[in-house]
Amino acid sequence: MKTFQTRAALNEWLLRQKSINKIIGFVPTMGALHNGHLSLIRQAKKENDLVVCSIFVNPIQFNKPEDLKKYPRTLETDLEMLSEQACDAVFYPSEKEMYPEPEKVVYDFGMLDKVMEGRYRRGHFNGVAIVVKRLFDIVQPHRAYFGNKDFQQLQIIKAMVKMESLDVEIVPCPTVREPDGLAMSSRNVRLNREQRRDASLIHTALKMAKALYTTHEVLQVKQRVTEKINASPHLEVEYFEIVWADTLLPVIEKGARREMVVGCIAVCAGEIRLIDNMAFNL
Ligand code: PAF
Repeated sequence: MKTFQTRAALNEWLLRQKSINKIIGFVPTMGALHNGHLSLIRQAKKENDLVVCSIFVNPIQFNKPEDLKKYPRTLETDLEMLSEQACDAVFYPSEKEMYPEPEKVVYDFGMLDKVMEGRYRRGHFNGVAIVVKRLFDIVQPHRAYFGNKDFQQLQIIKAMVKMESLDVEIVPCPTVREPDGLAMSSRNVRLNREQRRDASLIHTALKMAKALYTTHEVLQVKQRVTEKINASPHLEVEYFEIVWADTLLPVIEKGARREMVVGCIAVCAGEIRLIDNMAFNL
């Protein structure tokens, strides 16, 4: 597995690969890798000639300095895990390498970044869009892989790719879960025993919401989910929204449109935020 810390070195290798028509799959990450990330690598391996993974904890997507400080950093184990998956190349630049000058772009995503995560984490999606655009400019992949767990992020990235007319296929990948249903996330390692035990309620509540959605009003479903999760003294629902998948706007009248409906949730376990979602009409 090749490792690169500078754009110049990565670029030189990529140019050689592209000159022999290799198809490049790209998996951007912030490290602290888990099985969810590895499933993206595995899917990318199946669909491309070469897979490049990036590891960069992007400071401009954190709206709370404590969250950035506490974000797990496990570079050595990350590299071992990627090597075991036969990932072809890893790019782990420094902050200076990624942002030689401060980035000033402000994207206009309309309502896409004003709701849910966007409402609670101001500026987060602008930071995500900026770093993903920079990484795409550096790697110029044919395909890029993102987990469905970050459903709003996925919609933002698709919108950014459209706005910037980038020639990259965005491939959404299924959420990978722990045996008790908790969506895998780099933040899970920060949960204490009780928080970790009760965090499985999030998936249970989403499954309940999906079942209730067929027979109950949206408001009733939202209330039942919130009650179920808040019954744990270790968890608190920040938001639970039932939205149209394409616009992320709340479903007010069921059946008014035929687009996919998704239940999206954020739950606080102490200072740790957990997010998850479930498609309701599949
Ligand atoms: O989902 C993540 O890990 C990050 O938001 C991403 C896409 C790597 C950008 O920093």
